[in-house]
Amino acid sequence: MANQSIVYLNGEFVSADEAKISIFDRGFVFGDGVYEVIPVYGTKLFRLKQHLERLDRSLTSIRITLPLSHEQWEKQLDTLIAKNPHNGLEERSIYIQITRGVAPRDHKFPEKTPPTIVAICNPLTAVDSDLLAQGAAVITMEDFRWQRCNIKAISLLPNVLARQQAMDNQAQEVLFFRDNRLTEGAASNVFIVENGRIITPPKSEDLLAGITRDLVLELALAHNIAHAEEEISLKRAQKADEIWLTSSTKEILPVTLLDGKPISSGQPGSLWVRMLALYQTFKNEQRV
Ligand code: PDD
Repeated sequence: MANQSIVYLNGEFVSADEAKISIFDRGFVFGDGVYEVIPVYGTKLFRLKQHLERLDRSLTSIRITLPLSHEQWEKQLDTLIAKNPHNGLEERSIYIQITRGVAPRDHKFPEKTPPTIVAICNPLTAVDSDLLAQGAAVITMEDFRWQRCNIKAISLLPNVLARQQAMDNQAQEVLFFRDNRLTEGAASNVFIVENGRIITPPKSEDLLAGITRDLVLELALAHNIAHAEEEISLKRAQKADEIWLTSSTKEILPVTLLDGKPISSGQPGSLWVRMLALYQTFKNEQRV
């Protein structure tokens, strides 16, 4: 099917159908690259500064020289948004991917090879309203990923396998545990609620520093909702009053089934209702 959208590829704006990348690109060959997903509300890039700061951290961790300044990113992404007219039905998001470029296959870094830089404007489909109303089902599993999960790497095979295992078990997401400590989901961060207090695991190399996670903590602070960053064992998660998943695409999604057993009453909780309302208000204030 023809794709009419315009994408950014190495400094040029081209139609999606014409954008081509070499089969020798290290992103394709090794998964050697990093990415970002930035929501766009109206025409406003949501939390752009935070996303670009995380992109810079990911690039620095894998030793790719920062290709664009924040001002250059903003200019190029605003142009990309303008070149992809809004259909008025869905919100949009920007997917950015940067790889170590095109070179003959060899694990060591190639010399003098420019990175491949791609940005794509995608529809941002809202979470299904039935799923929001009834809450998600999750399964738990040992975190079998690597020890640099703070890098937003494009090599996501473990996350893909874990998410598919969830789907095969009629669940929407997994909760990863490393030595009985909750880390995150396959593509989300995790919060629990205990006695009116929201708790999420502290940042470390075991999890991605989610932009949505940080915003939820920021909103909790601004609205006097008790919150903490603490280790969470499986038993603690099972006994929680509420569990939430957070991500740029899912926003804040309640979890009502954990390994087939209901969380508390098995209904989305009241603090989730409050936090989602705060989140939506914040989002709508930003929209332009
Ligand atoms: N994923 N943890 C992981 C492993 C993720 O992949 C994501 C997001 C998050 C949440 O981060 P944020 O709030 O900044 O979106 C946590 C994106 C949405 C994706 O891969 O599509």
